[in-house]
Amino acid sequence: MIGKEILGYTIESVLGEGGMATVYKGVNQQTNHSLAFKVLDNKLTSSESLMTRFRNEATLGINLDHPYIAKVFNFIKDENVPMILMENIDGCSIAQYFKDRKCNLSEKIEVFIKVLNAFGYAHSLKVVHRDIKPSNIIVDKWGNPKVLDFGIARIDTQEGVGLTRTGAHMGSLPYMSPEQIKGIKNIDKKTDIYSLGLLLYELISEKPVFDSETENSYLLPTKIMNDAVPKIEGAAYARINQIIKKATNKSPEDRYSSCKAFKSALLDNEVFKDIEGSNKNDEPKFPKSVYQAYLEVTKEDAVNNDPDPEYFSRSEFKAAIIIGCVVLLLFLMSQ
Ligand SMILES: Nc1ncnc2c1ncn2[C@@H]1O[C@H](COP(=O)(O)OP(=O)(O)OP(=O)(O)O)[C@@H](O)[C@H]1O
Ligand SMILES: [Mg+2]
Repeated sequence: MIGKEILGYTIESVLGEGGMATVYKGVNQQTNHSLAFKVLDNKLTSSESLMTRFRNEATLGINLDHPYIAKVFNFIKDENVPMILMENIDGCSIAQYFKDRKCNLSEKIEVFIKVLNAFGYAHSLKVVHRDIKPSNIIVDKWGNPKVLDFGIARIDTQEGVGLTRTGAHMGSLPYMSPEQIKGIKNIDKKTDIYSLGLLLYELISEKPVFDSETENSYLLPTKIMNDAVPKIEGAAYARINQIIKKATNKSPEDRYSSCKAFKSALLDNEVFKDIEGSNKNDEPKFPKSVYQAYLEVTKEDAVNNDPDPEYFSRSEFKAAIIIGCVVLLLFLMSQ
């Protein structure tokens, strides 16, 4: 592939390799613009159904438009080799980014809330990722996350179950939800909420909950089905541990109902209690940058005004009290 010319872009280097594909960097010599070319593995191209899925799922990615989702531009076949053309993201995986920069809790939660905004948007369009893991979220040099591989993940849960068993695609197993392990067909956004809970644990503790590197992969499914996510050590993490526990509940109904509910839970003074100093006068003490990330929801709300049954914002609570008082006053006046 290196040196090849595709659509005016010269393939210059390998950006990364996964279980099913290799991602190359292509540069247009005239404009210096770069693109990522995700090329399906040679041995998988013989499967007509995998080819069709690769294309279908690329189409799904093309229809997503969000600042924290890597833009998918097109699906092409070059000399019969299928490839997805994507935005080239100059950065590293979210886990690596936090490690390299030695990010504190507030910085991590700020980026994580942006990740939740991306998934909230996708869920509002009924798109479930199903393959959330650190390598599928790159953080760029400005600290913005970009979620990758939306939809391609469906291959994992359908044909891909076979791939996982043969060891050709082990990467995702540690992040699979119990319902994915069970092979339930109609999994929904609660599966992503679960994997996001595992991701949050990993980002804060800097170690994965379930690790295919160190654990016997045949025992892993049983562990995922039965073992609770461990607690992050330290009194300061009491609230975070509760949040992770809820997100990763084995039963989907008991998890957060939406990404919005998940991020609302994170916007809690208790989360930052022992980390950002004492909480005087009951003032909000989550950092401003975290609150700004929280407010960034635009498309999720615009596309689908998903009411959050688990959470009242401060303003909604105040509004409810004022309306209640007015109604009571009117009632008393009418007596
Ligand atoms: N658009 C992109 N821009 C920059 N780098 C990318 C892009 N897409 C993928 N990469 C890099 O290429 C690597 C391989 O990606 P790929 O999706 O094929 O596999 P993976 O997510 O690492 O693992 P798996 O195949 O198990 O899902 C990624 O880890 C990432 O570092
Ligand atoms: Mg990937």
